[in-house]
Amino acid sequence: MRIREMTESDLPQVLELQGELAFQDWDEKQFLSEIRANYAYCVVSEDGDGECGKVDSHGELLGYAIFHLLGSDSELLSIATKESEQRKGIGTQLLQAGLDKLTEDGDQCFLEVRVGNTKARAFYEKHGFVLYNSRKKYYSDGEDAALYKYSVKLKR
Ligand SMILES: CC(C)(COP(=O)(O)OP(=O)(O)OC[C@H]1O[C@@H](n2cnc3c(N)ncnc32)[C@H](O)[C@@H]1OP(=O)(O)O)[C@@H](O)C(=O)NCCC(=O)NCCS
Repeated sequence: MRIREMTESDLPQVLELQGELAFQDWDEKQFLSEIRANYAYCVVSEDGDGECGKVDSHGELLGYAIFHLLGSDSELLSIATKESEQRKGIGTQLLQAGLDKLTEDGDQCFLEVRVGNTKARAFYEKHGFVLYNSRKKYYSDGEDAALYKYSVKLKR
């Protein structure tokens, strides 16, 4: 298993994984614009070690994450692990790849998540994200959002 930056050729597998988990409904265009944005950091976790540096040689996609690295205030937009591979540490590695980009100058990472997404909330809380607010009826189906932040200083 290895973590590497997402490329356009990962998109079929990324879209398939998103569809399986049904937690988000981004289209290909949205993923493409993230991959191309210079402030976005998009990573995937794939099976195997990759084939001797061949850029287009992809293993099975096990997960992905998308961050916006915006100076002191970064954001985690999306993180997902294939259902059959959950609870094996893949989400942790994807999250760590983004958090490693934060500096120790008081940088923070923000995210919002459905209040009812207990799995993801347990995951974020395990990794030191702190609930700081909520947004009523934030999602189109009327569900509230829980707002979390992670501060680099909390690492210590
Ligand atoms: C949230 C998600 C990315 C976690 O990925 P993962 O690869 O299973 O995470 P890890 O294996 O690294 O889990 C690390 C820790 O998070 C917590 N955690 C993860 N899944 C959990 C669950 N179902 N119930 C309770 N705690 C959980 C645990 O503390 C776990 O450590 P442990 O297994 O030693 O107890 C995954 O559940 C997922 O893809 N969910 C669907 C998509 C989604 O809702 N994404 C978030 C909104 S954008």
